[in-house]
Amino acid sequence: MAGETFYVTTPIYYVNDVPHIGHSYTTIAADVLARYHRLRGDDVHFLTGTDEHGTKVQRAAEANGETPLQYADRIAANYQALWERFNITNDDFIRTTQLRHEKVVRHLFEQLHERGDLTLGEYAGWYCASCENFLTEDALVEGNCPDCGKKAEWGSEATYYFRMAKYEDRLIAFLDEHPEFIRPQARYNEIVSRVKDGLRDVSFTRTSLEWGVSLPLGEGHVTYVWIDALVNYISALGYPDGDLYQTYWRDGADVLHLVGKDIIWFHCVIWPCVLMALDLPIPKTVFAHGWWTNNGDKMSKSKGNFVDPVAMTDKYGVDAYRYFLLREMPFGQDGDFSETALIGRINNDLGNDLGNLLHRTLTMIEKYAGEVVPPPNVAAADLAHRSQEILDQFHRHMATVQFSCALETAWEWIRHGNQYVEKMQPWALAKDDDKRDELNNVLYSLAAILRVASVMLWPFMPTKMSDLRTQLGLRPEPETFEADGTFTDLKPGTIIQKGEPLFPRIED
Ligand code: MSP
Repeated sequence: MAGETFYVTTPIYYVNDVPHIGHSYTTIAADVLARYHRLRGDDVHFLTGTDEHGTKVQRAAEANGETPLQYADRIAANYQALWERFNITNDDFIRTTQLRHEKVVRHLFEQLHERGDLTLGEYAGWYCASCENFLTEDALVEGNCPDCGKKAEWGSEATYYFRMAKYEDRLIAFLDEHPEFIRPQARYNEIVSRVKDGLRDVSFTRTSLEWGVSLPLGEGHVTYVWIDALVNYISALGYPDGDLYQTYWRDGADVLHLVGKDIIWFHCVIWPCVLMALDLPIPKTVFAHGWWTNNGDKMSKSKGNFVDPVAMTDKYGVDAYRYFLLREMPFGQDGDFSETALIGRINNDLGNDLGNLLHRTLTMIEKYAGEVVPPPNVAAADLAHRSQEILDQFHRHMATVQFSCALETAWEWIRHGNQYVEKMQPWALAKDDDKRDELNNVLYSLAAILRVASVMLWPFMPTKMSDLRTQLGLRPEPETFEADGTFTDLKPGTIIQKGEPLFPRIED
């Protein structure tokens, strides 16, 4: 049975940066959602990629003695390798230097032009002559360029403006009718109030820029990086007539853009206005997540204190890192990264709660039932009922993209499992031959509890959950919640294969 379509995207990352915790956070969150929706039987498309144009990329390439494309090829490959290492299941990887993307950008500009949504004007602002780059007032450091430190000058150049002001009323009406378009609520309120302050036309082309998509709008106009970047969400689907575009970008389709809170204006204001201008469907939701600090400090290039996802996962493993990022900080809020907190989560949640439940269950099935899940003589109706309640609550949290709450719910279930062991005392039942049926019921229920937990947790920790499922004698990858997540569907007679502990204790 084919479910709903679900299209999830990450921002496309600039290639002038090395991947850091922020990039890995959004991409892991998108991967968890993609895996979760596949388990629900949905038809999922998951896109990520790289943003490769702009002066900064050109300069970085020159500094390395490479062409911009050689440089971008190298960094894009870095990102792709990182996502493989993190078990990211993206269906596609878009690069803004690909022909399939540039074609769509040109086509879109032609359409905007034909519809009278572009006007030729002049862009004036602070300019760094050395970097050949316009800078916003905020970016200046005491009047100097933040990149090279040289004095910025006031400059101007020809530009095509997108007539965004024209769409102010339509955007306000749209936001009013679609409160789910911007999440969390605080970001929605912030954007609505900024939009009500008034929209201005935005500069969409530059003539001072070389490394961008050249446009059929007259001498020297290339796209300004932001509009070039936003178009990736539909160019990757083969807009306007590709099958993927027809499938995943229909009116009313479930489209979710995950972004950091710093880039919501582009996604929640400029992007819907462009789509309105072209009479195209607007995505269902833009979810803005918060920012990580490192041991309480803001991460920045100048401080050089970005958390390195490769170093962290070398040390603690990919799944523990995935789990930590989504468990530690509620999605939408800011949070702090520290190795102490990560180690605490590994030792407590993963080791003491989950690892321990698996270990005790397997040890007892080995010892009391000859490594085979015994048949229950009565169905544990209360546990089956509880598992349904837990799953319902888990799905409600996932539907609102509240990863930390969904994980808390999964942990309620795991702790319930540990309490069940204490309450039933299988070691005491094993001493009494008359209690054989009761013991079988308990052992069966414990394996069934872990089986249900493994499906909830699989999107978050796919490798560890495959390992756990293998030890329980189940197929490594669950197919759907329906097929693998029903408490009473565990087959008695399943042969367990006890292996190494899932989460060995880490000494701080
Ligand atoms: N290229 C644009 C996006 C275009 S999307 C059409 C861009 N690229 S980026 O490489 O700078 O993206 C960075 C992403 O990482 C943003 O979503 C940003 O919010 C996120 N983060 C950067 N630092 C971060 C933290 N310290 N914590 C969490 N996320 C942060 O912007």
